[in-house]
Order: sequence, then structure tokens, then C-alpha cells
Amino acid sequence: MKQYGVAVHGAGWVAAEHVRAFDADPRSQVITISSRRESSAARVAKMTNHSEAVIETDLSRVLDREDVQILVVCTPHDLHPANTIAAARAGKHVLIEKPAALDTSSLRRMREEVAKAGVKSVVSFVLRWNPLFDVIKAQQANGALGHVYMTEVDYVHGVGPWYGQYEWCRTLAQGRSSFLNAGCHAVDALRYFTESDVVEVSAYTVAGSDRFEYPGTAVMICKFENGSIGKALSNLDDRAPYKFRISLYGDRGTMLDNRIHSQTVPGQTDYAEIPTILPDSGDVSHHPFRGEASHLLDCIDTNEESHVSLGNSVNTHEVCIAADISAAEGRPVSLPLP
Ligand SMILES: NC(=O)c1ccc[n+]([C@@H]2O[C@H](COP(=O)([O-])OP(=O)(O)OC[C@H]3O[C@@H](n4cnc5c(N)ncnc54)[C@H](OP(=O)(O)O)[C@@H]3O)[C@@H](O)[C@H]2O)c1
Repeated sequence: MKQYGVAVHGAGWVAAEHVRAFDADPRSQVITISSRRESSAARVAKMTNHSEAVIETDLSRVLDREDVQILVVCTPHDLHPANTIAAARAGKHVLIEKPAALDTSSLRRMREEVAKAGVKSVVSFVLRWNPLFDVIKAQQANGALGHVYMTEVDYVHGVGPWYGQYEWCRTLAQGRSSFLNAGCHAVDALRYFTESDVVEVSAYTVAGSDRFEYPGTAVMICKFENGSIGKALSNLDDRAPYKFRISLYGDRGTMLDNRIHSQTVPGQTDYAEIPTILPDSGDVSHHPFRGEASHLLDCIDTNEESHVSLGNSVNTHEVCIAADISAAEGRPVSLPLP
């Protein structure tokens, strides 16, 4: 079996979960852990029992290594483009934490460099590996919902000083907006279930707290290329427990999280609940990073493009940017952005 060497860069909260995820797949081995501060990288190595890992503070030294084939980008959002482009130029496959970028020109440069290098990419919309997502996809595939004409996804996560990345993600420079910072998970889910790209976005924002340099709450409605419509909420101001709510309305059935009502079940009088693991925690230890890591390894092994590659995810990021433009200028915004 071929073993891939993995480098995890940006040793904060999420990094340890990526180390554990690649540890769990026998096709990969974590070779280096790097960060701005050596002490942070050493701490993640210790937490994950990787005393043998090479600790680095210089990404170019990591990317020069021949025993590294995959870079996992776990730095703050604004560093993802430079990290990804450097990895692609060094011929490394990339797993990029979300959001991949905060502006369209960076997104397009990253996409070009990744395509030119011929490396595989996955943007870490990790909820695609949550079991509820599999349940919903299975109901769509077996026709229980019919044609889904409307989808809603709400990302409700009260982020504040108690949250690890709060100091930088609360800023306009590094966090940028509610949707780009975190609600992009909801936009990605909308696109995953609708199986179409968004072509128009309208949005409103409000500051539901004074915690952010940008409005912490944003809601957007959108039209998809396939004619269906969607709604996404990104609420970082909430003071109640984390929620990720999903509603799909089809011409044969409706799905509200793990509850389904379908015309394909004659006599069904109320929603039936399908027991599963819900995406009901904002804690990274609850997120299905193992599925995501194995998926990237599958893509490399089979030479197939990921369903959540950088190229696929450009539309998700453009929706977030378009929502910010729409809210600021009070008008619908068409996609792709100019
Ligand atoms: N997919 C998901 O569900 C999910 C969940 C959580 C986070 N994330 C994403 O993962 C990324 C990191 O989030 P986090 O919560 O892990 O943040 P974090 O705890 O603040 O960690 C970020 C780390 O990046 C390092 N860093 C900062 N500037 C750097 C630089 N110039 N060069 C190299 N390293 C630098 C810092 O390390 P030092 O200590 O060395 O300064 C810091 O520990 C964000 O983009 C976030 O959106 C995604």
C-alpha cells in the first residue's frame, strides 16, 4: 500500500483533529507539524502522541521535503491563499480549511495554481461526512423527496471570547464576514443538497452583538441554476447552544433535519424520525474529519476530482462574498462575480 506523507500547518485548535484523522487511515503518515510558533507545533505533536514528528516554523522547508505529499492548511483564513499556492507550486496535494479565501481574486489564483500543478484539493466543508448528510442524500437518491425545489440551512453558532480563534476571527481583516468566517458551512450544504450552483443572491445583515468588527448575523436567499431556491442563515451572535438546521422541500416529500414525511409512504400521518448523528456541535472533536481525510486519499489514489475540490467550492465562496455585497449595497447580486 502506498503511504502518503502529511504536513499539518497552523498548529491551533483544528490542527490536532487533522493529525488524528490522517493517523486513522493506514495510507497516510504525519511527517511534519508546523506553525508560526515552534511551541504551538510542539504542543500539537505532544497532544497527538507524535514525538517523532518534525517540528517546523518555516513552511518552505516543509514544502521542500520529498517525504511530504499532502499539506493541510489550518492557519487563519487570510493565510490560506498563500499557503495553498505555495503547496501547489511544490506539487503537494492540499486540504484547505474553510474558508479557502476571503476574496475572488485569491480564489481564482488558487484555483489556477492547483489546476496547473495537477494536485488534488479538498476544502474542509467537513459536515459533508456527517451521518445526517448521508441520510438526506440517501432519501434524495431513493426518490422519497422527489424534485427538491427549496432548501434551507441555518448555521447558528454563538462565537465569542470563549472561542479559541475569536481574537482574530472577530476582525474584518482576518474573519471578514459572518458567512465567510463560518456560515459558509451552511452555503456549502445548500449547494451539496441542491446539486446545483447559485446564480443570484440577496442578503441582509445585522449586528446581534458587539463582538465582531462586521455584522455577526446574515441571512441570504438565492436562486440556483437548476431553478430551485434556497435560504441560508449565519448567526454568530446567538447565546443558545449550537444548531445546524437543514430543511428540504420536494414535490414528493419534506425533510426537516432527520425527520421525513414522504408521499412514497402511503398512510404516513406525521413525520418519521431517522435515528442518526446530527451536526449538532461546534466542537471540532465532534466533526467527521476522518471521513474527509480518507476522501482526499481516495481522490489521490483514484486520480479523481473531489466533490468538494477548490474548483467546486469557488461558487460557495462567491455566494458568501455576493451576500456581503448584496447586504452592503441593498441589491441582488448575480454570479459568477465579475
Ligand atoms: N472545518 C471546520 O469545521 C473548522 C473548524 C475549526 C476551524 N476551522 C478553520 O481552521 C482554521 C484555523 O482555525 P483554528 O480554530 O484552528 O484557529 P486557531 O486555534 O487560532 O489556530 C490557528 C493557528 O494558526 C497559527 N498561525 C497564525 N498565524 C500564522 C502564520 N503567519 N504562520 C503560520 N501559522 C500561523 C497560529 O499558530 P501559533 O500558535 O504558532 O501562532 C494558530 O495556532 C480557520 O480557517 C478556521 O476557519 C475549520
